[in-house]
Order: sequence, then structure tokens, then C-alpha cells
Amino acid sequence: MKPVKVGICGLGTVGGGTYNVLKRNAEEIARRAGRKIIVEEIGARHTNPDCDTKGIQLTDDVFAVAKNPEIDVVVELIGGYDVAKELVLTAIEHGKHVVTANKALIAVHGNEIFEAAQKKNVMVAFEASVAGGIPIIKAIREGLSANKINWLAGIINGTGNFIMTEMRDKGREFSDVLAEAQALGYAEADPTFDVEGIDAAHKLTILASIAFGIPLQFDKAFTEGISKITRDDVQYAEELGYRIKHLGVSRRTDKGVELRVHPTLIPESALIANVNGVMNAILVDGDAVGQTMYYGPGAGSEPTASAVVADIVDVVRTLTADRDNRVPHLAFQPSELSDMPILPMDQTETAYYLRMNAQEKPGVLAMITSILGGEGINIEAIIQKATSEDQVPVIILTQSVLEQKMNDAIAKIEALDEINGSVTRIRVENFGR
Ligand code: HSE
Repeated sequence: MKPVKVGICGLGTVGGGTYNVLKRNAEEIARRAGRKIIVEEIGARHTNPDCDTKGIQLTDDVFAVAKNPEIDVVVELIGGYDVAKELVLTAIEHGKHVVTANKALIAVHGNEIFEAAQKKNVMVAFEASVAGGIPIIKAIREGLSANKINWLAGIINGTGNFIMTEMRDKGREFSDVLAEAQALGYAEADPTFDVEGIDAAHKLTILASIAFGIPLQFDKAFTEGISKITRDDVQYAEELGYRIKHLGVSRRTDKGVELRVHPTLIPESALIANVNGVMNAILVDGDAVGQTMYYGPGAGSEPTASAVVADIVDVVRTLTADRDNRVPHLAFQPSELSDMPILPMDQTETAYYLRMNAQEKPGVLAMITSILGGEGINIEAIIQKATSEDQVPVIILTQSVLEQKMNDAIAKIEALDEINGSVTRIRVENFGR
């Protein structure tokens, strides 16, 4: 069979890894795909010292790759929103299939891109956009297609998890660990995307769409970062039997879909609480299968390339199928997407960890617990730390409650003269335990 010709746009961490894996494993990949896959052209502003591109056509104009009539599949690995969007739409316009690792692009512009691809009868594959080397999109979209998915929750940003792990295990400083993640090529070009949860929200948006069959709605995701987590919180959480992880959670409820990224206390005995360093893990709960977990490297050159190349193989295998006989981009047939709303954050429900500084005098705990009781919030555990100062940290673990009620309770607690400063709140997930 005629070889399939691929154009790679971007030769950075992921582009370089993709080129090297395609080259090194060419024979094995061809045995799987049923035909040879040839890199016809590379579009990149810089060469990559880790890649031997001798004999390959190089250009610094990625749009020339998207328009090259010899090329069947354009692999977009330049990242970012604007140029990447134009590049992908140009490739589609020219009848090319597209493989991308760009979560920002898919989360924000995916609906438009998929519509354009449907019209042109081409595929857009994006396995590498979520959790690097873990085939989570394939698992949900195909492996779990018998199920009604109830919820999913994941550690889907390697940089954030690396920072939280190093801070907890080695007491290292935030900025120091972030610099190391950048040097290792894990962090985003703008690392606030990692630490403020934007990168995780991009990925969660994609996962929620394929789990529940809803259009991509990144603008409705709730996002809270990890920069305010203190070593004290990590310590108190441990005393209560929990670890703090930066989690993306999406749950189907009767009223709509929860879509939220925030630091989260999870029971230390849960497998996912023990996912450390740059590793990612996603728990998926389906009505037929129950809970399943997917674990692996969520970033890095060849782990991400592993997913990119698998997508290229997938595209090659289904080149002759028309659009109605391929796996739909968002798992459900485009005409069957649901208008189930994304819930505003104050309509979501979780348990909470609260930490506050209370003045050391009689009756203060009673005031706090009476405010919580008044809002119908049940207390699960409470710790008060004696100190030599005139204020004491009070830590409270609550049972599950509507966020709106917790907002009201926190406002009332913060208004007490006996409480100094603001109340720290970290949400808690027990995964149905
Ligand atoms: N910055 C991302 C991470 C890279 O740390 O997980 C993979 O998407």
C-alpha cells in the first residue's frame, strides 16, 4: 500500500519526540498501521539538537506544511491558541487530517474545528492533549462506550503534581520546584497555566465533553490554583488522614455537569492520593464498570509522542472510512450532543476543609460551630492547635454541602471579631466512600 505522508509542525519537546519515535519505531509502526508512515516535511522555526533530520524537507513556514499537496496528515505541535487554530483550519481546508497535542486549542476552539473537519470529511485526533502518554481519550471514548459515565476526577497537570509532591516530601520551595519542572520541559510556556489550573481546566473540559457528550465549554470551568496552599495545610490534612492534590473533577448531576479544578483533600488510602511527581492519573466512574483508574506520565517528550503517534496510526487505519463511520470526535454523534448545562460553582456540592485563626478565648468554637449548624453543615472532624500566642489555628472538616451554603457560612465566620484574617477553604472528595 502507498505510504502515508505526514507533516510535522513544531519541533520542540513534543515535536522532537514525535519525530524520533516515528523514525526509531518505523518498522513496528508500519506493521501496526498497515502501511509505511513517512515524515515528508517539518515546519519549525528552530531545529532540535536531539533530532537527526538529515534528508527531511525543512521549512520555517508551518502554513507551507498545511498546504503541501504531498501531505496527508498534518501534526500540529506548535501549541498556543491563535496561530495553531489558523494552522489547523488551513490544514482542514486543504483536506488534510490533523493530529494535535494542543489542549488549549481543543478546549477553546474544538467545537469550531470539529465542525470544519466534519464538513471536509477529515479527522482531528487529539489523544495527546490530555494526560500525555495515558490513552485516556481512547479509554473513555471507546473502551467505556457501554457506560453512562457518572463522574471523573484526575490529576491532569504533571507540573502542579510535581510541585505539590516535592513541597510535601522534601519541604522544597514552590519557585525552586517550578524552575526544575520548566528545565525538564514539563511546564507550559506560561507556567501560570500549570499552577493556576488553566492547563488542567483545558484537559478537564475535553474529558467532560467525551464523557457526557456535551460541547466543549472551557469558559464555564471553575479554576483555582495551588499557590495558596501552605505547608501547614499539607500537615493538617495529613493529621486528618488526607493528602492535598490539584484535582480536576467533573460530575453528572440531576441539575447539570460540575466542571471544576481546585486543590482537593483526598483520603490518603485512595490510590490516586499516591500519584506523585510528574505522573498523572484519572479515575472514571461508569454505571456498568464501576471505578477505573488510568495512570502514567502526563508530560514529557516521548510519553506525549507515544500518544501523538498512536493518533497518527489511528488516522492511517481509518483513512478510507467516511466521517459517519469513524469514532466521533467527542465520542457521541455530533447531532446527539446534549445541552445539559455546566453548573455554576455555587451549585456544586463537596465536603470542605476549613482553616482559620481564632482568638484564644472561651466560646469562640461555639460561635463557629453554631454558624455552620445554622447553614445545615455537618462537622466531620475538628482540630484546635494550642499555641503560645493569643490566637489558635482551628481546622474543621465538614460533610458534603452546597457551595452556596458554605460561601454564606464562611462570610459569617469571617465577619466575627474573634476570627483574624480570612478562612482558608479546600474542597474534599471521598470518591463515593
Ligand atoms: N504542562 C503540562 C503538565 C504538560 O505539566 O502536565 C502536559 O500537558
